[in-house]
Amino acid sequence: MVGSRVAAVGKHPPSRRYLLVLSCISLLGSSSWPTSSGPPPRPPPPHHTSPSRRPSASGAAKDVKLAFAKGEPNATFADLPAPALEWEEMAKAPVARLDGAAIQIKNLLYVFAGYGTIDYVHSHVDVYNFTDNTWGGKFDMPKEMAHSHLGVATDGRYIYVISGQYGPQCRGPTSRSFVLDTESKKWDDLPHYLYAPATQLWRGRLHVMGGSKEDRHEPGTEHWSLAVKDGKALENEWRSEIQIPLGGPHRACVVANDKLLVIGGQEGDFMAKPGSPIFKCSRRNEVVYDNVYMLDDELKWKELTPMPKPDSHIEFAWVIVNNSIVIAGGTTEKHPLTKKMILVGELFRFNLDTLEWSVIGKMPYRVKTTLVGFWDGWLYFTSGQRDRGPDDPAPRNVLGTTWRTRLRLE
Ligand SMILES: *[C@@H]1O[C@H](CO)[C@@H](O)[C@H](O)[C@H]1NC(C)=O
Ligand SMILES: *[C@@H]1O[C@H](CO)[C@@H](O)[C@H](O)[C@H]1NC(C)=O
Ligand SMILES: *[C@@H]1O[C@H](CO)[C@@H](O)[C@H](O)[C@H]1NC(C)=O
Repeated sequence: MVGSRVAAVGKHPPSRRYLLVLSCISLLGSSSWPTSSGPPPRPPPPHHTSPSRRPSASGAAKDVKLAFAKGEPNATFADLPAPALEWEEMAKAPVARLDGAAIQIKNLLYVFAGYGTIDYVHSHVDVYNFTDNTWGGKFDMPKEMAHSHLGVATDGRYIYVISGQYGPQCRGPTSRSFVLDTESKKWDDLPHYLYAPATQLWRGRLHVMGGSKEDRHEPGTEHWSLAVKDGKALENEWRSEIQIPLGGPHRACVVANDKLLVIGGQEGDFMAKPGSPIFKCSRRNEVVYDNVYMLDDELKWKELTPMPKPDSHIEFAWVIVNNSIVIAGGTTEKHPLTKKMILVGELFRFNLDTLEWSVIGKMPYRVKTTLVGFWDGWLYFTSGQRDRGPDDPAPRNVLGTTWRTRLRLE
């Protein structure tokens, strides 16, 4: 019922040149982020105070022109009309985190790593229990494991963690990959891989694809797979698979109805300032995707109906509920005039029966790289980086805040 973000293991790096999917650090707008010990974030604004600025279909061109004249975004950059939902605030995560990873196994959400601030990264796992709605069971990650931009998947017991960025700011990738046995809480080595790719377990193979190359910016379109079972690689080498049509990080990678889907994401990312001893992040051009690609028996990528707007930073922001993929928040194209990053505050639904998208609700605030789970009729999200307020969709505080809302999809 819950679309577990699933995967498996590998052995030996495919090729050093191909680091995959680095997710971005978006933050960078604010020079320092609050940590969990900082002041609590302001309560989110109610949804209805944030009117949609989407131009009507007729006269859209005129509306867009007017909007630009007033320095406002057009429909691509605006909030989409979305039903209000009732959200309940739950126990806050032990730490605030950005670009962390999350995997749900039954009633537990395992939340990995992430930035606390741009200069500080976490090296542990926090576990949220959906049955009693508490955080607990913190345990360490291996010292050599990456801290952000991880590719993660599970088979329901073992959690496979592929490469990622090692350290804070805009440092480079590690090729180290690991597997966690969630029953014994023991970690094991996996064959090396580079950077945080779109990752899924599909038909007994761990698939990793896309992402960015070592410089964090250049998109990779490579796609590799490795046979895995019960936390062990069954092969010594990664196998080259059909390239994905668009490379880049921060995409949702989902297996549903025995098909592999890659949704949204972006091309380009922040990269380290040349010569900076701390690998200081500096912004580069980014293009955000609305594309949806699917791989099935034909082993040929098919393009499905695009998302309602371009959306990135959603790698752990999805669940499968009643044969629909639900995606929470993200980032869309930057504002064409201010060039600021624009966060997304909608809940999207991709109905796997009709292959159509809809907007099913508004979140308490716009948020990127949030971590989503579903249990007993409730949709949960925790962590990520939220907006500056109802009228300013640019990124601000990095949070550990957790919310839930009742979700019913017929
Ligand atoms: C919004 O503006 C961008 C940049 O000018 C343009 O590419 C896009 O088509 C516009 N979107 C709509 C819905 O008008
Ligand atoms: C989750 O909470 C339930 C209810 O308190 C408890 O029975 C269960 O042991 C908890 N699970 C873990 C792994 O802590
Ligand atoms: C899933 O669909 C079934 C049948 O329509 C319905 O009874 C159930 O409430 C739905 N669950 C959710 C979470 O929407």
